[in-house]
Amino acid sequence: MSAEPVADTASERPESQGPTGRGRVPAEPGTTRRGLFTAAGGLGAGALLAACGDDGPGAPDNDLPAGVIAEVDEVEVGGGYINAGEQVVVTQPSEGDFRGFSAICTHEGCTVSDISDGTINCRCHGSRYSIEDGAVVQAAWGETPETQDPLPPVEVAEDDGTIVRG
Ligand code: FES
Repeated sequence: MSAEPVADTASERPESQGPTGRGRVPAEPGTTRRGLFTAAGGLGAGALLAACGDDGPGAPDNDLPAGVIAEVDEVEVGGGYINAGEQVVVTQPSEGDFRGFSAICTHEGCTVSDISDGTINCRCHGSRYSIEDGAVVQAAWGETPETQDPLPPVEVAEDDGTIVRG
C-alpha cells in the first residue's frame, strides 16, 4: 500500500496567515508596511510573498492608535485595507462609501490576504469576497458560493481622517 502525497497547504500560504491571524498584512513594495491596500488593478502573488518586512508577518504595527482600523487615505476607492491586527477589512467601493467586514475567511479561518479587482481574497484556498457586501464571489476549493458564508459585516465609521469601529 502506498501513501498518497499530502499537499502542504501551509507552505503555500503567505506568511501573513499564521495560525494566530494576528498582526497586519505586509504591504506591497512601494507602499508602507502599515497594511495592504490595493486598487482594482490587482497584485501578483509573488509580489505579495516578497513583501514581508523586518518585523516579520504577524508583528504588531504600532503606527495606528488602538481601535483605529485605517487612515482614510489608506483605503483606496475600488479597493480596501486589511488590518489583520484588528481582524477587519475596510473597503471603499465608491468615493466616501466605507464598508467593514471581518478579515477572517469563513472557509477555514485564515486571515484574508489581499484586495484586487473588486474582491477581498484569501490565498489559503482561493476564496474571493465582494468588496461591496462581502458576498462569496469565488468559493474555496471544493465549496460553492451557496455552501460558503459571506464575510460578516463590521460597522465602521469615519472619524477625523481615520476609520474606526462604528
Ligand atoms: S481559509 Fe480562506 S479559502 Fe480556505
